[in-house]
Amino acid sequence: MAHGNPCLGDVMSPSGGGGTMQASHVVHVLVLGILLTACASPDAPVTSAPSPDSVGAELAAVSGAPAFGEPLANLTADELARFGAGLKEFLTVEGVGEGLGPVFNEASCATCHNGPVGGTTGRKETRFGRIVDGAFDPMSEFGGSLIQDQGIGLVSSGGDFTFVGEAAPSTATVTARRITTQLFGLGLVDAVPDEYLLGLARREAATSPTTAGTPHMVREVRTGLTRVGRFGWKAQVPTLFQFSGDAYLNEMGITNPEFPDENCPQGDCTALAHNPLTTLNDDGAGVVAFNDFMTMLAPPPRGPRSLQVIRGSGVFARSGCANCHTPVLVTGASPIAALSHKVFQPFSDFLLHDMGALGDGIAQGAATGRQMRTAPLWGLRTRSLLLHDGRATTIVAAIKLHGGQAATSRTRFMRLGLFDRFALLSFLRSL
Ligand code: HEC
Ligand code: HEC
Repeated sequence: MAHGNPCLGDVMSPSGGGGTMQASHVVHVLVLGILLTACASPDAPVTSAPSPDSVGAELAAVSGAPAFGEPLANLTADELARFGAGLKEFLTVEGVGEGLGPVFNEASCATCHNGPVGGTTGRKETRFGRIVDGAFDPMSEFGGSLIQDQGIGLVSSGGDFTFVGEAAPSTATVTARRITTQLFGLGLVDAVPDEYLLGLARREAATSPTTAGTPHMVREVRTGLTRVGRFGWKAQVPTLFQFSGDAYLNEMGITNPEFPDENCPQGDCTALAHNPLTTLNDDGAGVVAFNDFMTMLAPPPRGPRSLQVIRGSGVFARSGCANCHTPVLVTGASPIAALSHKVFQPFSDFLLHDMGALGDGIAQGAATGRQMRTAPLWGLRTRSLLLHDGRATTIVAAIKLHGGQAATSRTRFMRLGLFDRFALLSFLRSL
């Protein structure tokens, strides 16, 4: 099915507006109608997913921003103010007095998500565990699986005590590094209804079973509901709101309403007797601010589109890349008009795929060690370190490391003639 897949590898702005962003908000219902029939409606019986028939006339391509790190176009004054306040919080470096630590990775979100703000500095973190009777054990008694590699040092609460960063214990048999991802456009991803991603998974299973993705069903803390995970390298988190609280605790050591319990340093909970700030560190305002900033952060602006790029988008589809790196997704209703019923191009299905040896070996929720979320390819042209651990420094190297369900696609790439390969790479460098 990868051959002759009607789904476009790329969607041309109907007005052809290469790098210029003003043109892209123009809705060309007819073009979008064709496009959505071909690609965006994964499965007809999906109930509450936006259906081209019912809302087609209102669907619009998301309006781009002129540069990375900017807010979405067409926000209201109130939304822009919330974005600005969120950005400020995102940049804020916290101290021990605000609850940083006792163990943490960095003191602000932007220490890792920057270059420009919301992007990635390439900062990596480490997870560890071991395999017991064939199953992954996160070794939580040693503070696993996520390491907090810094400590707040000497404190005098409850007697002198020195908090140091964690390290993988010698008994760990699995260690994996994960690189910081870019956050551009994730408000759109957040606004895709679960039913839509479930429908997409069903369509993949029906049309391209060998590469089909698996939705990562995870618990939403706020509602207790089982939702489709979509954030993180393993699609382990269902919403930006939840990731905000999760990261505040697990990256910075700031407890908050949904994540009220400090991490026990290296698994030693008795050390928390020396925690200098035992009350809830953030009353929830910080989490709301991060969520606002990320929700309204614009998607990566698209690079220039040459004839090579257009040709390459066809090679992308023919090579089976688009089976996982889904070119087009559609949001559902959102209280933020700029996110509501929008067509956007993340080049990911946000589903899990068995990547063979490329998997990071860490099981998380229902995701096995071999399964990874399809990495979105938007913004690729700005990235210098690729794959979950940043081991690839070129696009070709990243493709060559695809295994498991992506092995056939990788082989197709390796067999491309020079002209097609050049076109495909031009396309990827335009994202
Ligand atoms: C020490 C570096 C570091 C800090 C500090 C940090 N992050 Fe991250 N962030 C990462 C890494 C690494 C990942 C990928 C994690 C994974 O999937 O295991 C990530 C992933 C994310 C994602 C998921 C993005 C996606 O591609 O799906 C969100 C959302 C996020 N971070 C938000 C935040 C917020 C909000 C803060 C501040 C409260 C924060 N991060 C602080 C390193 C960091
Ligand atoms: C079976 C699904 C699947 C297919 C088919 C597939 N990919 Fe991927 N791709 C993934 C997953 C999953 C990742 C993330 C893997 C990781 O980092 O562990 C990824 C990562 C990438 C990356 C690195 C992105 C980043 O942010 O680091 C690039 C580039 C890429 N793919 C390009 C391609 C191209 C080009 C093709 C077609 C030749 C292709 N992929 C086919 C699933 C797929």
